[in-house]
Amino acid sequence: MKVLAVYGTRPEAIKMCPLILEMKNRPEVKCVVCLTGQHREMLDQVNGLFGITADYDLNIMQKGQSLADITSKVLQGLDKVIDKEKPDVMLVHGDTTTSFAAALAAFYRNIPVGHVEAGLRTYNMKSPYPEEFNRQAVDLICNYYFAPTETAKEHLLKEGKNHSHIYVTGNTVIDALKTTVDESFSDDNIEWAKGSRLILLTSHRRENIGENMKHIFEAVNAIVDEYPDVKVIYPLHKNPRVREIAYEYFRDNDRIRLIEPLDVYHFHNYIQQCFLIMTDSGGVQEEAPSLGKPVLVLRENTERPEGVAAGTLKLVGVEKESIYRGVKELLDNRKTYIKMSKASNPYGDGNASKYIVDALLKAVRRV
Ligand code: UD1
Ligand code: UDP
Repeated sequence: MKVLAVYGTRPEAIKMCPLILEMKNRPEVKCVVCLTGQHREMLDQVNGLFGITADYDLNIMQKGQSLADITSKVLQGLDKVIDKEKPDVMLVHGDTTTSFAAALAAFYRNIPVGHVEAGLRTYNMKSPYPEEFNRQAVDLICNYYFAPTETAKEHLLKEGKNHSHIYVTGNTVIDALKTTVDESFSDDNIEWAKGSRLILLTSHRRENIGENMKHIFEAVNAIVDEYPDVKVIYPLHKNPRVREIAYEYFRDNDRIRLIEPLDVYHFHNYIQQCFLIMTDSGGVQEEAPSLGKPVLVLRENTERPEGVAAGTLKLVGVEKESIYRGVKELLDNRKTYIKMSKASNPYGDGNASKYIVDALLKAVRRV
């Protein structure tokens, strides 16, 4: 079976690399890897860590790229790769524009598509934007659904997807997490934060860039001003629009460190070492429950209700006041903190890659 695995951004890479390594271990699978290069440095960082070299790289990234730029370049570039490789199946991941355009390219060529992390939903096309559209569109045209949880499977069933093509596998991010966390980890930043309560912050969502991000950063500044024992580390996304706002708000505070994107080994260990997380990231919402770290989600909704049900995630929205109150509650109230710090893992047993390859082999042979 020839599988064309396509991905282009950091979160896709983190969750596809364990799966690619699994496929490369199976003699019955020939795995061809195509990067779109929607991200560059942040993508190469992950591939480097997992030791993955791509067979193709569309290398599409440009500064300030529009959704139309990404979609059209991926569609055109992949069409040629599909024509040359003629895979039995294409695998895409999640909800990025790479995933959507790649699935569409396969659909146009009548190549079956498997969707890793299928079935996540907010049912709000504006939030997250454009990710809710992307994942629904992929699920509309794909043939095999690898749902991380029963909740995701229920969404797919409700939408009338074929029951026998849905596989609940867990999330491959847990596979990755098994290999990265090291109890004895330390580095300069972690040493700097010793003796303080460390907040790990990330924010990059398209719909938060602008006013929302300003509210988030104002809330962070208010907390740091009020609590002398709090320090913040913010690994900045490479998006220049995000960096501009972050530098404007955080330039002069010696208890807030703006740093370059961490590789995932370091980032997972920062999660392990921090006091709490503030984020609008999707992937981080899946990792933190396993490590028992409270997460304040800087969004109005989430497609990861499992973490909310587990008690680890709390939606605090994008208003300064609600964010400030959410953080203050965790800093002041030991009971709330302990309640949110219980480790729980709704995302499988860390063997999702194996289950996906097993299911794919069965499904493709059946056709
Ligand atoms: C993309 C995904 C989003 C995902 C996020 C993960 C879409 C529409 N969005 O958003 O779902 O949550 O990745 O991080 O698919 N840049 C660099 N180097 C990099 C990466 C980005 O310079 O390694 C800069 C470029 O100027 C680029 C900009 O960041 O134009 C934005 O990148 P883009 O992929 O368009 O959007 P993200 O916000 O990263
Ligand atoms: N991450 C990382 N380095 C960082 C920040 C995040 O490796 O400096 C990882 C994090 O562990 C998670 C993934 O990136 O697995 C999430 O990616 P991102 O927040 O860019 O995208 P999203 O998940 O929101 O689509």
